[in-house]
Amino acid sequence: MGLSQQAPHFANAPHFAIAIDGPAASGKSTIAKHLARRLGLVMVNSGAMYRAVTWKVLELGINPDDHTAVVQALQAMNIECGTAGNFSTIAIDGRLLDEELRGTEVNLAVSRVAAVPEVRSLLVQLQRDYLQHTSLVMEGRDICSVVFPDTPFKIYVDASEEVRAARRSAEGVTDSVAARDKADSNRTTAPLIVADGAIVLDNSDHTVASAVEAALDILRSQGLSHEDSGDA
Ligand code: CDP
Ligand code: CDP
Repeated sequence: MGLSQQAPHFANAPHFAIAIDGPAASGKSTIAKHLARRLGLVMVNSGAMYRAVTWKVLELGINPDDHTAVVQALQAMNIECGTAGNFSTIAIDGRLLDEELRGTEVNLAVSRVAAVPEVRSLLVQLQRDYLQHTSLVMEGRDICSVVFPDTPFKIYVDASEEVRAARRSAEGVTDSVAARDKADSNRTTAPLIVADGAIVLDNSDHTVASAVEAALDILRSQGLSHEDSGDA
C-alpha cells in the first residue's frame, strides 16, 4: 500500500481510529491485535516506526544522542509504511524490518531517538496517513494526545511496573522497561500522558481475553457501534 502525504482530519475522514497509549509492556499491542481481528480493522504499531528509525541510525553508526546527525540521517531515509493483511509494516531504504526491531540495542536507544522533535513530526505524519486508507487501531505513546486527538475512541492501558517487567522477561527479551518509561514520560515533545478523553484500563490482573473484553466495553461506552465478529 502506498500512503499519501496528505494530513487527514478525523472529522473529515471516511475512516475511524481507535487510539491506544500506555507504558512499555502494558499489553497495548496484544489488546490492539485482538481488537483489530474482532472489529476487522488494521492494527498499526507506531512503536515499530520509532524502532525502525532507531535501527537505521544504529546501522549507520550514528550516536543516538547526536541530534544533528540523527536528523540528517532521517532526511536521507526512504521510509515506507504499508500493511500486510491486518498489520502495519515498515521498510527503510527497501528493507522490510521486523525481528531486528526487538533487539537489545534498539530497546536501549529508541527512547532517545523518539525524543527528537523532527523524528516525531515525520512519523506522526506517516501515522495519520494510514487513516486515508483504512480504519485502524493504533497503539503507542501519543496516539490519543497527538496523532488522533479528535477520535472519541481512546484507551490508556496500564499495569504495575512489576507485572510489566515480568511479562517482558517471560518473553525472553532484555528490555529496560523502567528506563524507557521514565524517558518517554519526561520528554518535552509528546510525553506519555493519559490524554483528555482516554479511559484507563488497568491490565495488571486481567487475562488477555478479559483485557480485550474490558477494552471493548470501554469502546462501546465511547460510542463504538462497529460490528464485533466475536472471534477470539
Ligand atoms: O512495545 P513497547 O511498549 O515495548 O514499545 P514500542 O511501542 O515498540 O515503542 C518503543 C519506543 O518508541 C517507546 O519506548 C517510545 O520511546 C517510542 N514511541 C513513541 O515515542 N511514541 C509512540 N507513539 C510509540 C513509541
Ligand atoms: O505493546 P506493549 O509493549 O504494551 O505490550 P505487549 O507487547 O502486548 O506485551 C504484553 C505481554 O504481556 C505479552 O506477552 C502478552 O501476552 C502478555 N499479557 C498481556 O498483554 N495482557 C495480559 N492480561 C496478560 C499477559
